[in-house]
Amino acid sequence: MTDIEIKKGLAGVTVDYTAISKVNPDTNSLLYRGYPVHELAATEPFEAVAYLLWHGELPDAEQLAALRATERAHRALVPAVQQAIDLLPPGAHPMDEIRTAASVIGAVDLADIGNVMDAVGTPDENLDRSIRLFAALPAIVAYGQRRRRGEALVPPRDDLDYAANFLWMTFGREADEVVVDAFNRSMILYAEHSFNASTFTARVVTSTLSDLYSAVVAAIGALKGPLHGGANEAVLHIFDEIGTADNVAAWLDQALAAKRKIMGFGHRVYKRGDSRVPTMKAALDTLVEHYDRPDVLALYTTLESEFVARKGIYPNLDYPSGPAYNLMGFDTLTFTPLFVAARVTGWTAHIMEQQASNALIRPLSAYNGPDERHIEGYVPDAAVQDAASRPEEAH
Ligand code: CMC
Repeated sequence: MTDIEIKKGLAGVTVDYTAISKVNPDTNSLLYRGYPVHELAATEPFEAVAYLLWHGELPDAEQLAALRATERAHRALVPAVQQAIDLLPPGAHPMDEIRTAASVIGAVDLADIGNVMDAVGTPDENLDRSIRLFAALPAIVAYGQRRRRGEALVPPRDDLDYAANFLWMTFGREADEVVVDAFNRSMILYAEHSFNASTFTARVVTSTLSDLYSAVVAAIGALKGPLHGGANEAVLHIFDEIGTADNVAAWLDQALAAKRKIMGFGHRVYKRGDSRVPTMKAALDTLVEHYDRPDVLALYTTLESEFVARKGIYPNLDYPSGPAYNLMGFDTLTFTPLFVAARVTGWTAHIMEQQASNALIRPLSAYNGPDERHIEGYVPDAAVQDAASRPEEAH
């Protein structure tokens, strides 16, 4: 054993600088490039926030128009990606689907780059790749949900902005303004959150000089877990289990007695409430009114107040976003892929930031396995013995 201090889960460890976002749990604030996220959610389209994360400034009208034109040009599901999705079993989890699809996009885009040293790309190439992924992911999410429902692909509409087109491709009808607005807000709130597990994963992969697509694929894998992005899906499973607000107290008694984690509550950084929740809860309120579903609000508020009263642990963003996506008509399994479509903007901004100031991320570990031992009868030759006697740490 060792007396080295181990920071399990890297809790409380600051590993690098970032200029992309600032999470302040003391003031309960989240800034993207200096702007409070609730101000961005109330005033900007998601495309403008993507631009902000990548470039550091909000776009002017011309810059926004240029980004929108590129985004529209890459919206359609390309045949190789559709074929790859179609090869997956219908029961494949949509997170596995979108992870596979992102991988195919990368393989197709980098197909002519034979040398692994060149795949890392220039800053301009990586910005292009970021925009391409940002543009391509909604069709993958939408097609996945439609495929599972036995519905045909809906091609994108050039006359709709990002959020409205995303809903169009998913449901094959124009969404009401209030729904588009709530969806746009959710995308902005999910876009970025400093060194969370998936973003850190993307930065670790990038630090090896691997390419942007590989980093995004790895990040999708990290986001799938229910301690991270998978929680928005898990919240709806809990809602389904509980049924109605009347059942909350008894359900919670049992769940806590069984030491279950209640999904959608708690956060590694925020201990007094997640800064994004009030904005997403307000969006949920508009949807509850729009769809006339007070029962959803009753279940939401009862579970929240009972859980906070018992444990003093507050909701995170996944708590209001789960029921909001449900009301919009998304299948429960589609929720975390929606998170991917939003967070790809933050991931790619971090990938480019890591590339601009790279150091291989390679922490140390403290060994606590068996003491050194030897294979009986093994006699090393002289060269191996020489190397073994060099006083250098193993890799
Ligand atoms: N339900 C029940 N108990 C909880 C919960 C919860 N949701 N969250 C924390 N606790 C308890 C936990 O059991 C532990 O108790 P004890 O000290 O008695 O063992 C204590 O609080 C500390 O929890 P922890 O898991 O060690 O703390 P952490 O900082 O590692 O937890 C967390 C952060 C997000 C992993 C955890 O709160 C959790 O598992 N929440 C549920 C999953 C969830 O909603 N995840 C989404 C996170 S926010 C969006 C995102 O990043 O994707």
